[in-house]
Amino acid sequence: MYTIQSDVKEHDEARQGEALMLENEGAKNNGRKLYIESYGCAMNFSDSEIVASIMTDMGFQTTTDYKEADVVFINTCSIRENAEQRVRNRLREFGSAKSRNPGMVVGVLGCMAERLKAKFLEEEKLVDVVVGPDAYRDLPNLIDKVDDGAKAVNVLLSREETYADINPVRLNSNGITAFISIMRGCDNMCSFCVVPFTRGRERSRDAHSIVNEARELFNQGYREVTLLGQNVDSYKWASQDELEKVNFAGLLEMVALVSPDLRVRFSTSHPKDITDEVLYTMAKYENICKYIHLPVQSGNSRILELMNRTYDREWYMERVNSIRRIIPECAISTDVITGFCTETEEEHQDTLSMMDFVKYDFAYMFMYSERPGTLAAKRFTDDIPEEVKKRRLNEVVAKQQQYSHERLLQQVGKVQKVLIEGFSKKSELDYAGRSDQNATVVFPADNNYKPGQYVNVKIERCTTATLIGTICE
Ligand code: SAH
Ligand code: SF4
Ligand code: F3S
Repeated sequence: MYTIQSDVKEHDEARQGEALMLENEGAKNNGRKLYIESYGCAMNFSDSEIVASIMTDMGFQTTTDYKEADVVFINTCSIRENAEQRVRNRLREFGSAKSRNPGMVVGVLGCMAERLKAKFLEEEKLVDVVVGPDAYRDLPNLIDKVDDGAKAVNVLLSREETYADINPVRLNSNGITAFISIMRGCDNMCSFCVVPFTRGRERSRDAHSIVNEARELFNQGYREVTLLGQNVDSYKWASQDELEKVNFAGLLEMVALVSPDLRVRFSTSHPKDITDEVLYTMAKYENICKYIHLPVQSGNSRILELMNRTYDREWYMERVNSIRRIIPECAISTDVITGFCTETEEEHQDTLSMMDFVKYDFAYMFMYSERPGTLAAKRFTDDIPEEVKKRRLNEVVAKQQQYSHERLLQQVGKVQKVLIEGFSKKSELDYAGRSDQNATVVFPADNNYKPGQYVNVKIERCTTATLIGTICE
């Protein structure tokens, strides 16, 4: 069971007035328990920490056991059909807990809430409250309504909301690594993607609030932050008087300067927007991790055009060449979709040959799943049979396994700087952490070092997904 960091608020003097105002609200809910479960991308996990913050200000305590909770929230993902199916199955399980405890409030948050809106209440009778990603500040009011016996929905999207002033309550935290949301929404219209509909327009968070959050985390003992956005390279913030303008390269530098002992990661980069300026900034600071997640989706220019990714194969290869030139040691990972509308066998081969070109360190690979309301659903037919999508996916996965292993093997015999995150999942005798390039490294625990410290590890061997070594001087 994780503990809530009750000292979080004490660090934030500016919020003490607000805390007083909320005292009455808090008293009403004191002792009520909140359970939150998150699906989907890191952004959703980060949002759950904002929700937990709003709910603890209301007097709730978090629990890791939904069966003892007064309020059960499920923060949902709509990215593929099976992501939504997983949520519906989980709701069934909450349903049986609710039948034993009729007072239990069930809330659906996040992208599926936004996509289905009030329809959710008709489709899933056990749901009491539906809250979209930009409406979490309205939770006190929505919970009130539900307590009065009504059902409640708020799925308004916002052009401004960034929750910049909310101090997230870190959930399931190892106390060493944390996510920081730097922007919300997405203004790209990739034809397969539901995110612009569920998350609304792109907006960037105040750069200083981001740096302050990073500094506060560092002071609490955290040693790694991951800056989150659907397309971090289009981060753009200006002060009200427009005198101060910060782009993503500038923001990276500001966060890197918090401390040389704070590692900085980020996700996701869009191939059309990642600039050499970002790459040079990465090269300049030792603490900006040399790892870029650069989703390719397809290696074929015609498919990329149908996907509305706004780059082609050559552009992507040029970006990879720039990464290799400016940051030779940089690890690169990707996302791939197989069997997008009208994809031919030759076009699929282009994806495989792109993988041969880049030799990705890691990849997330998916079969195309048509999402209602997207451009692709309106314009094209989802015409590649399931078994063809699956076979192409298997080919992509097999190739990636080969390259992932190859990339790890290249590290054997070398020394890696590792941030210790805790004990390995398999054994309390081993520590686990990650290398600069984001590879998991496991090595015998040593009492002289504890989680949160950096150690040099000599890599001795590897499995298909993990580097194994021992601490060296
Ligand atoms: N903003 C990120 C992607 C977020 S979604 C980017 O632009 O790269 C994460 C990944 O899910 C996508 O990169 C894509 O590979 C996959 N994905 C999105 N929609 C999908 C769909 N309809 N079917 C299959 N995979 C999809
Ligand atoms: Fe979706 Fe494209 Fe935006 Fe990524 S950049 S979230 S894939 S629309
Ligand atoms: Fe899923 Fe929404 Fe993230 S659809 S991938 S949770 S932005």
